[in-house]
Amino acid sequence: MIESISIKEARTQYPVLDVIRKRWSARAFSEQSITEEQLLTMIEAASWAPSSMNEQPWKYIVARKEDEQGFAKLLSVMNGSNAVWAQKSAALLLCVATTTYGKEQNSNPSALHDVGMANMSLLLQATALDIYTHVIGGFSREKAMTEFQLQPNETPVCMIVLGYLDSPDVLNEPFKTREITPRSRKNLDTFYSFSS
Ligand SMILES: Cc1cc2nc3c(=O)[nH]c(=O)nc-3n(C[C@H](O)[C@H](O)[C@H](O)COP(=O)(O)O)c2cc1C
Repeated sequence: MIESISIKEARTQYPVLDVIRKRWSARAFSEQSITEEQLLTMIEAASWAPSSMNEQPWKYIVARKEDEQGFAKLLSVMNGSNAVWAQKSAALLLCVATTTYGKEQNSNPSALHDVGMANMSLLLQATALDIYTHVIGGFSREKAMTEFQLQPNETPVCMIVLGYLDSPDVLNEPFKTREITPRSRKNLDTFYSFSS
């Protein structure tokens, strides 16, 4: 296990929160386990995200690596190029959005947005626990629907890979180089304009 890779931390113009600065998408995960309590702490953090009509349209299908069957099932829906490094992680999550509101079953246009909000809370809580994360969209949504018997109003949104950090040396290329490449963002002024 290693503590951090400082070159990955966000270099910001303004003093953002430490957890925002320190979160980045890792691929080199150590053998060290995470506890069920840590996993549930992250899910509880997610649960306090705001959501349209307080609908809380998120659901997480999770497995720590100690649950070999559950972990293998989640890994099996992932694209091969992601599974190569994700198989070493401490836990996998499939994030599912319920896309209808309550009893009336009207479409909830905010569902994906709200799941994203919950996910970010989860990622930042993980960072506060020194646990590294990686969101992935490279998985089979069709297979996830089948394997986890999702309902028509449930949409698999993304998966989250997490665990403690290991040295980039445990990775093969091209992942090793990506693990030590500084992160970049567009210029801040491309993200906003002042209302006039
Ligand atoms: C919805 C979503 C899907 C992603 N899918 C993948 C993926 O399939 N494989 C991968 O290696 N990274 C994936 N990423 C990670 C992004 O590439 C990463 O967040 C981005 O390059 C910014 O890097 P940072 O998270 O370190 O700031 C995904 C991220 C998000 C939010």
